[in-house]
Amino acid sequence: MINKVRNICCIGAGYVGGPTMAVFADKCPNLNIFVVDKNKQRVDAWNSEDLTKLPIFERGLDKLISKRRGKNLHFSDNFKKYISEADMIFISVNTPTKTKGLGAGKASDLKWVEASSREIAEYAQGETIVVEKSTLPVKTAQTIKSILDESQSINKDKKFTVLSNPEFLAEGSAIADLEFPDRVLIGGDNLDSINALVNIYLNWIPKDKIITTDLWSSELSKLTANAFLAQRISSINSISALCERTGANIKDVSLAIGTDKRIGKEFLNAGPGFGGSCFKKDILNLVYIYDYYGLHHEAKYWEKVVEINDWQKKRISNLIIEKLFGTVSGKKIAILGFSFKANTNDTRESPAISICKELINEGGNLFVYDPKVSHEQIRIDLNLPEARQEQDLNEGSWSYATSISEAIKSSDAIVIITEWEEFKYLNWKEIKSKMRNPSWIFDTRSIINICEAEKYGLKVWSVGKGSQNISNF
Ligand code: NAD
Ligand code: UGA
Repeated sequence: MINKVRNICCIGAGYVGGPTMAVFADKCPNLNIFVVDKNKQRVDAWNSEDLTKLPIFERGLDKLISKRRGKNLHFSDNFKKYISEADMIFISVNTPTKTKGLGAGKASDLKWVEASSREIAEYAQGETIVVEKSTLPVKTAQTIKSILDESQSINKDKKFTVLSNPEFLAEGSAIADLEFPDRVLIGGDNLDSINALVNIYLNWIPKDKIITTDLWSSELSKLTANAFLAQRISSINSISALCERTGANIKDVSLAIGTDKRIGKEFLNAGPGFGGSCFKKDILNLVYIYDYYGLHHEAKYWEKVVEINDWQKKRISNLIIEKLFGTVSGKKIAILGFSFKANTNDTRESPAISICKELINEGGNLFVYDPKVSHEQIRIDLNLPEARQEQDLNEGSWSYATSISEAIKSSDAIVIITEWEEFKYLNWKEIKSKMRNPSWIFDTRSIINICEAEKYGLKVWSVGKGSQNISNF
């Protein structure tokens, strides 16, 4: 099997499937890679001649697509054909939190994984290695195997093995993460299949960075990695609240603790709470699994990580209202940044969504600017009244701004929610001249130079630093 893998099919052309397969295609020119998705519109976007129309924004992705697409990288909605021709199939479909039924609000909804497994069971031919790329609850491989075993028992020509190969890329740095990962994790119980996948990665990953385990350890490691990362953010965010009360500075605290190599300096940036499609869903999934196995105390421990995250978002919207004399009704507020982090157009679970909703519900008129998030996406996420003209600006609305200056014009406050580079070095003198008095800046990422902004008479609140110099005004 090791040397027989020539055709790869990846089910799911999303944030993981697209970039991952683009890097595979680039690093392994001898492989033919077909990324299939049931969403025809998404497939068309991946095939778009205009590379600015690719369905996701990731630095370096457009270059890889233009280099490999049409050569050994293809996007299609023809499952049947590409599943049937594949030697190896990656399942890279979405696994959101269930919204109804057993485990609703916590367990992962595996219906897309199950559907993919059924498609593979039906169309695959001969020997096929099935690889879990999606993040899945521990023991999911058992479900996939059961579906595949059924079809194997009916058609003796079909033979399946299942591997777990979770993806650790972070959005905004996906291509670099895929090209230079900290590690590649492969779980399985069939040595030939494991080696076939190891062999592919060896095209660009040093051997000592490839970890092989059993299936269950691999599946559980992915959930655990995300839970640990999210836990660090909730930990530092809880400390940020204490810094604001005591006069300590969160940046100094992060530096001081992060230089201890046992703690490490990464993931100690306080902010408006973690967003993204995975941290919350993966922790809730872990909580569900704990409860399923009767480990309720442990479940509660992890649940707190999500609770603190929700609290941080609420804490920030509340303090904005308090600082603006206890009401934002009819006030104009500029929102800078809507994506869940910089360098991505993804808004899933973005803290901007809940903070904006709170402010709109309190009567604020928001002007939202993000360099990469579309007007339509903000409309879908907020799902609240949009002001299209001056007379719509009553109490509680939002408008789309195409530039920073459009967003901040005549505003009472600016709220920086995403740490985009262009928000770090704003021209405070000019900004002050365009805002109403008193002019507030709420820096939920602690990225601006407070002294510089205060020099021009702006009032600044910064996460983990508070608004300590306000008495100077
Ligand atoms: P996504 O929603 O962007 O993409 C999933 C795609 O799968 C969609 O385009 C959908 O149409 C397609 N799909 C669903 N069912 C299908 C089916 N039966 N046949 C064909 N296509 C189907 O999701 P994503 O962000 O790429 O995440 C995918 C998985 O990877 C999730 O389990 C997620 O937890 C995990 N993950 C995500 C990231 C990330 O940064 N987004 C990182 C690591 C792991
Ligand atoms: C995260 C993990 O970092 C990836 O390893 C994992 O593969 C992925 O989830 C996944 O499974 O989906 P991602 O969500 O794309 O990646 O981005 P992160 O960089 O982890 O940021 C997540 C959230 O935490 C963002 O809202 C970010 O702004 C926030 N964050 C991050 C902080 O508030 N402070 C930090 O110090 C770091």
